[in-house]
Parts: sequence; structure tokens; C-alpha cells
Amino acid sequence: MADVTLHIVEPAQKPVLENLFQLYTHDFSDFWGGREEGELQEDGRFAPYPYLDSYWTDTDRTPLFIRTEGFLAGFALLNRFSHSGLPVDHAVAEFWIARKHRRFGVGLAGAVKILGHRPGQWEMAVARRNTGALPFWRRVAAEVAGSQVDEIDRDDDLWNGPIVRCRV
Ligand SMILES: CC(C)(COP(=O)(O)OP(=O)(O)OC[C@H]1O[C@@H](n2cnc3c(N)ncnc32)[C@H](O)[C@@H]1OP(=O)(O)O)[C@@H](O)C(=O)NCCC(=O)NCCS
Repeated sequence: MADVTLHIVEPAQKPVLENLFQLYTHDFSDFWGGREEGELQEDGRFAPYPYLDSYWTDTDRTPLFIRTEGFLAGFALLNRFSHSGLPVDHAVAEFWIARKHRRFGVGLAGAVKILGHRPGQWEMAVARRNTGALPFWRRVAAEVAGSQVDEIDRDDDLWNGPIVRCRV
């Protein structure tokens, strides 16, 4: 497994997470062609992530930095929101690894640490067009939950894409 450490994002570090969200949103804007989302603002930045403040006010939410070899390499936001409508204990709301560090096992090691240390029912909703993320979450789920994995597909106003669920 890659050398990965996780660090709670302190309130004073919110501007760091805001910076990373610019990169994250740029990545996701790949999937938003033909939609209203993901336009650059006149200042050359993407609109801020609307739920960020809640990660320090809502006790059900956890913001984490992911570091590899000591370097800041990504982030994860955890909550308890169920896209499937089924019961969940934990959900990955957002998860991102900087491009330089992709396909070196950093995401896998980070996600395995995150899920592996939090027993219960997990859910990861994957946007339909995000074809790379689905094999990634299947791999993570298999690592932490073995055969206790299932996948459902939703295509309605609430979500469009597969939802990977696993019991740790
Ligand atoms: C998806 C993401 C988190 C993967 O992070 P990563 O550090 O590159 O993933 P890993 O190197 O740990 O990959 C582990 C395994 O997952 C699978 N995988 C990861 N990225 C993949 C991709 N783009 N296409 C297909 N399979 C992929 C592979 O099986 C990989 O093992 P391998 O490299 O030995 O084949 C990263 O690409 C990312 O941040 N993407 C943008 C944000 C995003 O989509 N987040 C997920 C939201 S649901």
C-alpha cells in the first residue's frame, strides 16, 4: 500500500480546502458539458463548494486531508447522506486525489484507511460519467468488505449513476 496519512482539516485550514476544491471542480467539469453547472466565474474561479462550512458545524461530517510521503495529495469529505435511500452509517461525499499522484495507489490506501477505521454500512455514489471512479470504488469496497458489497443504479432527480454500498 502507498504511504498515506489522513489529517482532520482544522477550521483554520478551510482556505486550503477551498483551493483544492477549485482543482476538484475543474476535474468534475469534464462531466458537466451541456449542463449549467461548472461555469467559471468572471474572476476565473469556480463557485465555492456550497456545503463546505457544514463540515465544521455538523458533527456527522468529517473533512480529511490525504497526504502521501508527507505531501498534500488530496482530500475526503465524509457524511451520512444516503443517495440510495437505504440506511447508511457513513458516506463518502467527496474524494479527490491530485493528478500527479493518481494511479500509484494513493487513493486506494487513503480510502481503505478511511473506511477500514469506521465500521458500518458505507455508501459511495458515483456520477454516471465518472467512469474511472466506479472501478476505483469497487476495488476499495472489495478490499474493506470482501463479499459484503452491493451496487445499485439510480437515474432520477436525486442521483444519476451507480451507488456502491459495502458493509465494513
Ligand atoms: C478516482 C480517484 C480518487 C482514484 O485515485 P487514485 O489514487 O488514482 O487511485 P489508485 O491508484 O489508488 O487506484 C486503485 C485502483 O482503482 C482503479 N482505478 C483507479 N483509477 C481508475 C481509473 N481512472 N480508471 C479505471 N480504474 C481506476 C484501478 O483498479 C486501480 O488499480 P491499478 O492502478 O493497479 O489498476 C482519482 O482518479 C480522482 O481523484 N479522480 C477525480 C475525483 C473523483 O472522481 N473522485 C471520486 C468521486 S466518486
